Amino acid sequence: MTHDTALQSAVDLAAKAAAEESTAPIVQGFFDEETFTASYIVHDPATGKAAIVDSVLDFDQPSGRTSTGSADAIIAYVKELGLSVQWLLETHAHADHLSAAPYLQEHLGGTLAIGSEILTVQNVFGKVFNEGTEFARDGSQFDHLFSDGDGFALGDIQAVALHVPGHTPADMAYVIGDAIFVGDTMFMPDYGTARADFPGGDARRLFQSIRRLMHLPDESRVFLCHDYKAPGRDTFVHETTIGAERTGNVHAHDGVTEDEFVEMRTQRDATLGMPRLILPSVQVNMRGGHFPEPEENGTRYLKLPLNTL
Ligand SMILES: [Fe+2]
Repeated sequence: MTHDTALQSAVDLAAKAAAEESTAPIVQGFFDEETFTASYIVHDPATGKAAIVDSVLDFDQPSGRTSTGSADAIIAYVKELGLSVQWLLETHAHADHLSAAPYLQEHLGGTLAIGSEILTVQNVFGKVFNEGTEFARDGSQFDHLFSDGDGFALGDIQAVALHVPGHTPADMAYVIGDAIFVGDTMFMPDYGTARADFPGGDARRLFQSIRRLMHLPDESRVFLCHDYKAPGRDTFVHETTIGAERTGNVHAHDGVTEDEFVEMRTQRDATLGMPRLILPSVQVNMRGGHFPEPEENGTRYLKLPLNTL
């Protein structure tokens, strides 16, 4: 048992969904090899109510051109199955790809949601990009902001949002029945965990968030936001279980102490370059996936701050 009531409600609903197949959602993943990102459509088979988690807008940086092949594949799946999209869920403000949520919302509807700590991210990166007052730092670019323990539903399937900071201050995990969308807290057991060195990141909080998720039932299905293959593995995999993570995650399995994790993560992060698309991604994703307003010539621009990150 845990004294954490938000976590306990997630544990209870995941356990119930694992025991009764009727409350387990169907999950379809889409993997973008350009950015190593997994997006998901999760739906309640009884009602067809669906959520789209962490979508990708294709972006060709040399030309500054966006395109919608990845998002259109999601739209085609939703239409083929006749699903009704209730939620567009972002686990966090991604630093490696642009979100396609506004495009998907235009075509499919749904409520765009992220964690309430996005305000912190907007404040930090609002300064990095020297945004003026027209850039609201109140999360209003999203339709809904989740706090730790907030419940929601996909048709008949109960869900809970958990705040799991560390990779960024605003990361959320979404527990939808027995399916847990963990964002960038952990990766496949053989690959380990996400970095914690972006502005506002914190390795100690990341460890605490990961270990908190590992209280969920062992049989819970875990859906990752990324996979990079691990040494010795030739295929991309982005689904595992809490039990496999708890016992086998190379960075954070049972027995690893918080201090050991922080030392490992800090040393490793010091060797990593910035993600290729961090500057365009964050500028767009902190706006809920919307582009900056056009300048007087009608063109939208992204900024490239020099010697800042
Ligand atoms: Fe991320």
